[in-house]
Amino acid sequence: MGKYIIQGGKTLSGVLPVSGAKNATLPILACTLIAEGTYFLNNVPALKDVEVMIKLLEHFGLKIEKIAQNSYKIINNGLQTLEAPYELVSIMRASFLVMGPLLAHRGEARVSMPGGCAIGNRPIDIHLKGFEQLGATIKTEHGFISAKAKNLIGKEIYLDFPTVTGTENLIMAAVLSKGITILNNAAREPEVEDLGNFLNKMGAKITGLGTDRIIIEGVEKLFPCEYNIIPDRIEAGTFLILSALTGGNIVVKGVNMEHLTSFKTKLEEIGINFKINGDEVQVQADLNNFKPTNIITLPYPGFPTDLQAQTIVLLAMIKGNSEMKETIFENRFRHVPELNRMGANIKIEGNVASINGPTNFQGAEVEATDLRAGACLVIAGLISSNTTILNNIEHIERGYENLVERLQAIGAEIKKSE
Ligand code: UD1
Repeated sequence: MGKYIIQGGKTLSGVLPVSGAKNATLPILACTLIAEGTYFLNNVPALKDVEVMIKLLEHFGLKIEKIAQNSYKIINNGLQTLEAPYELVSIMRASFLVMGPLLAHRGEARVSMPGGCAIGNRPIDIHLKGFEQLGATIKTEHGFISAKAKNLIGKEIYLDFPTVTGTENLIMAAVLSKGITILNNAAREPEVEDLGNFLNKMGAKITGLGTDRIIIEGVEKLFPCEYNIIPDRIEAGTFLILSALTGGNIVVKGVNMEHLTSFKTKLEEIGINFKINGDEVQVQADLNNFKPTNIITLPYPGFPTDLQAQTIVLLAMIKGNSEMKETIFENRFRHVPELNRMGANIKIEGNVASINGPTNFQGAEVEATDLRAGACLVIAGLISSNTTILNNIEHIERGYENLVERLQAIGAEIKKSE
């Protein structure tokens, strides 16, 4: 179990580059199961979750070669198995994304049931209901979910919630089906759109991407392609918060601000301004003039739940009372007791965190309970007086590539220790 040792209070300045989006990479990698041939993927972040997905693809028989730091060649010469094992699905829920492509390509899949996770129960009922509506028969046995379909037939489907991976799984299942599939109340996240753009480059006919009504006209065949993954908007948001709290001397590079509209607007409300120059963004921020605010997490284009924890650190630095309401996951405030150990004054009632600032963050020994909770504690550590020891950093490495090296390069005193 690794830890980060952070000496807070250093001046941070310089260029902080943003990696490719984890949540676009995972479905796009899974999607290489859908058609035989050779794919080239660029801007793939070097992350634990990506390694797990690559292992899973290798388990199915794909050959994967790293051809540059963030580029992969993926050869699909046919699948050796249609079963995703417990060892890989249990360590990463997004492994369930192989179900859609396997069903589309081979009409059959057996995937170990994903368990609960640190931030909530996270059922997959909407994925399964959608597969059934497309004509698949679903069975649950011995901890596995089996899906079979002779022919998937296009259908108009309503998703009870705009689930991100659910929408992705259903798009992938529908692309090779007969007829037209319409997904109503679909997820609008940029990562869903990126998967759709990748599939369209392969020959799929998908329209309405980025809206809540996605239309998929089934095609006979798909062809592999070369594709560049979009930048990670959550990582960009994390770095912009860090910049706002450390004087604004960080240039965050490789940002698509169009993917961060709600985040940008709420930060502007607080008193933070953005200087955007192409894909480089710098914040202009004077901590003394920040105003408290209330934020609600919502599906895209609402405020992202994946930036909730990091934003709470920002709100904790502002004089007055702010509120953060979490509506996507039921158990996503596990960073709050850790922040309170570092000096914050945050109370939780139901799904609302009431944050009383300003906080004089002090270094402490704390624990990363999930990926974004970990990121928020790194920010808190970097703005604290003295030393923070952050345990369970495996969670952070699932989603942030070479974080220590990138932060060291802008002047942070952070090191990894076993
Ligand atoms: C994705 C992201 C994750 C992000 C989340 C919400 C990936 C790999 N992960 O996760 O980083 O935090 O979107 O933006 O892209 N739900 C159901 N039934 C289902 C599916 C979901 O009830 O069949 C519920 C979940 O329990 C949750 C809500 O819907 O309360 C949103 O979940 P969902 O959008 O599916 O999140 P993920 O796709 O798992």
